[in-house]
Amino acid sequence: MIAYYNGDYLPVEKISVSPFDRGFLFSDGVYEALRTYNKKLFMLQKHLDRLKYSLEQTGINFSEFDKLEEIIFTCAQKNNISQDFSTYIQITRGVSFPRTHHYNQQIKPNLFVYSTELKNRERELSEGVSVILERDVRWNRCDIKSISLLPNVMANQNAFIKGCYEAVFYRDNFITEGSHTNFFAIKDGKVITAPLSNFILNGVTRKIVFSICNENNIPIEEEYIPLTDLFNYEEFFLTGTTTEITPVINIDGNIIGNGQPGKLTKKIQKLFYDFVE
Ligand code: PDD
Repeated sequence: MIAYYNGDYLPVEKISVSPFDRGFLFSDGVYEALRTYNKKLFMLQKHLDRLKYSLEQTGINFSEFDKLEEIIFTCAQKNNISQDFSTYIQITRGVSFPRTHHYNQQIKPNLFVYSTELKNRERELSEGVSVILERDVRWNRCDIKSISLLPNVMANQNAFIKGCYEAVFYRDNFITEGSHTNFFAIKDGKVITAPLSNFILNGVTRKIVFSICNENNIPIEEEYIPLTDLFNYEEFFLTGTTTEITPVINIDGNIIGNGQPGKLTKKIQKLFYDFVE
């Protein structure tokens, strides 16, 4: 695979990253993941806005936003990707030596980008997925798309070992989000998801669900979903750039409804594809 690193397109084995890169030493960096539909980057501006936010919040000096689209497509082209693809953008604060927690503000950031073919997710999308519940032990700035993802990795691995797609976090008695997705529930025809705060990522797909529902007179509210009330909700789904709208049919071994994706979930999923096209 050919990827981009700081100005060069190289086979990944030829890319050398300094061990003093602060991303390597401190997870001192931020990222974005996006994808194409019909060969165009989907919601590019929204992803760039969130990237700017993550960079501002962490004080990482990066300004070459204008170059990103071209870099992403060049990565795809150099790998002969002709279908829709996903892409990963990572910006670390840069290299500083010796290792100190504080840094020089003039440090030059390191940019890594790669594009890759999308997995076939037809089955997950049509049949739904199982999830587990995990206590949210992440930090209090989940609104920043930081590369520091150890709690997300550990939770998602627990899900994976159990044959589940996702780990859904709860903080005290409230559901926050998934390890790499936002989480929605439906009760009495109303779609509900956790309010925006420092405890969740402001998902681009989450935002689309709000506009789809508003345009189609489907009631939608930002409300906390209490863990103790979770099984009184009727339908559940996850959202994310590569997750799209994925129905949830089993939570911690409990079958939801009749074990099939919910009716309203399927409607929202269809409206999402209408929106995308
Ligand atoms: N994950 N919440 C978390 C913690 C996430 O990491 C993501 C995205 C989302 C959904 O955001 P969006 O709809 O903008 O993709 C919610 C990306 C895809 C990832 O980690 O690969």
